[in-house]
Amino acid sequence: ASVNELTDDIPEPHRIQDRREPQAPGLREGFKNTPDTDPDLPGNRAWGRDIAERMQTSQLGIATSENNWVGSAEELDTIMSRGVSAAEEWQSLGANERAAILHRAGDVLESKRADLLEVMGAECGKTIDQGDPEVSEAIDFAHYYAERGRDLEHVDGAQFVPSKLTVVTPPWNFPTAIPAGSTLSALASGSAVVIKPAHQAKRTGAVMVEALWEAGVPRDVLQYVQLGERELGAQFVSHPSVDRLILTGAYDTAKLFRSFRRDLPLLAETSGKNAIIVTPSADYDLAAKDVAYSAFGHAGQKCSAASLVILVGSVATSQRFRNQLLDAVRSLKVGSPWDLQTQVGPVIEPAQGKLLRGLTTLGEGESWVIKPKQLDELGKVWSPGIREGVKRGSEYHMTEYFGPILGIMTAPSLEEAVNFVNDIEYGLTSGLHSLDRDEVAYWLSTVEAGNLYINRGITGAIVQRQPFGGWKKSAIGAGTKAGGPNYLIGMGTWLDSPVST
Ligand code: ALA
Repeated sequence: ASVNELTDDIPEPHRIQDRREPQAPGLREGFKNTPDTDPDLPGNRAWGRDIAERMQTSQLGIATSENNWVGSAEELDTIMSRGVSAAEEWQSLGANERAAILHRAGDVLESKRADLLEVMGAECGKTIDQGDPEVSEAIDFAHYYAERGRDLEHVDGAQFVPSKLTVVTPPWNFPTAIPAGSTLSALASGSAVVIKPAHQAKRTGAVMVEALWEAGVPRDVLQYVQLGERELGAQFVSHPSVDRLILTGAYDTAKLFRSFRRDLPLLAETSGKNAIIVTPSADYDLAAKDVAYSAFGHAGQKCSAASLVILVGSVATSQRFRNQLLDAVRSLKVGSPWDLQTQVGPVIEPAQGKLLRGLTTLGEGESWVIKPKQLDELGKVWSPGIREGVKRGSEYHMTEYFGPILGIMTAPSLEEAVNFVNDIEYGLTSGLHSLDRDEVAYWLSTVEAGNLYINRGITGAIVQRQPFGGWKKSAIGAGTKAGGPNYLIGMGTWLDSPVST
C-alpha cells in the first residue's frame, strides 16, 4: 500500500462495489443491491467522523417538517383532495416515466447519503454503522420498485388499476428505509402519497421526501405532513378520500387504525418477538456474533431484533458458547452516535414502562448474566443486558421490549425449542444456527415466522434477496413482502382486460 492509501483525510467515501455475494440464479436481471460504505477504509472513517461531528448542530429537515403542519380538519381535506387530483396526473405519466423518476430518486438518495446519516443521528440517535445499510436499502427500494411498477403493465388478460391516494405512517426506528420503501412502492404502483413520518423522525422523513421531490416526484403527488393536533390522527388514517394505508408500527396501533375504517385496505407490518435457536451442531463463534449483533444493533430497537436465544441440549451448558457470547456482548461499545466507535446507541426516549421493566426487573427463576446499566442521567443510554432462566410462558418470553435486552431459554431438543418460538403470538423474524441438514429441514418446516434466517443474524433484510414480511400478529392485511416481487400487486385492483385480437 502506498502512503497515501493509509492517510486519514480522503474526503469522499470509497465503496467496495460487490461486497455481497454474486446474484443467485433466478434473481431479477439488471437489479443490483447498492453497496454499503466500508468503514475499514481510512477515507471512509474521515467521511464518517465529519458526518458525526455535524450531527450535533444539524439543521437538516427542519424547514420542511415545520412548514407542513396540518392544524385543522379543513386543511386535512385540502391536502387529501389535492392528492386525489394529483394521482390522475401521476397515472397519466405512465409506468415508464414514473420508473425513470423513481430510478432518479435512487440516485438522489445516494447523493444524500451523508445528509441522511447526519439527520438520523441527530434526530434518532442512529449510529453511522446502523444508518448506512438503511440508506442502501432505501436506494434499493427505489430501483427495485421502479421496475416492479413497470411489470404491473405487462400482465396478460388483466389490467391493474392503482389506488389513488395512499397514506403512509412509518415508524422512527428505520427513519429512512421504511418511509422510503412504503412511499416508493405506492408511487411505483401509480398512487399519490401523503406521508406522516413519526414525530420522533420527522426531520429524517423530510430529508427523504425532499430527495424524492428533487428527483422529479411532483409535490402534490407526494405530500409531507405533520399533524398539529393529536385528534387529527384518527381522521388522517381514515379519511374518506384515502384508498390505501401503509403502516409500520405496533400491532395495537394497526388494530386501532383498522377500527377507524374497516373498509380501508391496510398493509401493516407490526410487532415482533424474535428468537434465534442454537443447536449443538452450530458454529459457536458465528452464532455468538450473530446473536449479539441481532440483539443489540440499534440498541435492540428493531422489529426484527433478537430478543431471545434458545440454547438446545448441550449448548446450554457449553462454557465455550457462553464465553463467546458474553465476550461479544461485553465488548460492545455503548455511547452516543457522534462517536464513530459506538455500536450500541441510545434508546429513542428515556426508558419507561415496559422497556424499563425489561431492563431492571427479573421474572421468577430468572437471573442476570449481564445486568443492564443506565449510563446517562436521562435514562436513554443503557449497556446491553442478558438474563437467563427465562421460563416458557413467562412475561419475558412473550413480550416485545424494543431495547438492548436479551433473554436466554434452554430446551432439551430442537422440537421443544421450536415449540417455544411458536408459542409466541408474533411471527416476524426467526433464526437457526445449525450445521445439520436434518435440523435445518425440520426447523424450516415447523417454525412460524415470516422471515427465516439460517446461520445468519436475523436483522437487515436485503431488498429482493430477502423479501420482508411478517406472519401471525406481525402483519395485518399484508400478505406480500416488502422488497419482493409481489409487493405492488396488492396495491390496487385487477380488472379482466378484453383479449386483444
Ligand atoms: N427490514 C428490517 C430488518 O430486516 C426491519 O431488520
